Amino acid sequence: MQKLFVPILIFSLSFLFCNSYVALGGVPVGDWRPVNPSDPSVIEIGKFAVDEHNKEANTALRYINVVNGKSQLEVGVKYNLTIQAADGTFGKNYQAVVRDMPWRKSRVLLSFEGPI
Ligand SMILES: *[C@@H]1O[C@H](CO)[C@@H](O)[C@H](O)[C@H]1NC(C)=O
Repeated sequence: MQKLFVPILIFSLSFLFCNSYVALGGVPVGDWRPVNPSDPSVIEIGKFAVDEHNKEANTALRYINVVNGKSQLEVGVKYNLTIQAADGTFGKNYQAVVRDMPWRKSRVLLSFEGPI
């Protein structure tokens, strides 16, 4: 009984775990979860998105803060943040999607839209 219990437990747990994911094109994708806009790692992603957008689009937006956002486990963590940035004097909201893969030290700006 003892011998059977552990494998069954592991099997059940892995089933539960897999169930909370939806396989999309072979990539396991988790649910979108809200992030805390004042979490330092979220702020870092927000600043990265503005910096990266400035490089790509040759703009001079100034990061102000993350308004709100959500993240999803997929290949690394995908963040979808509403970011406030100053275009000249006025703060406007932008929507940025960033993929973060800390173990590869890789961070990619997937999209940056706005002002929204
Ligand atoms: C990001 O979130 C916004 C607002 O909820 C939504 O309109 C947009 O489609 C999302 N983008 C992605 C790639 O999930």
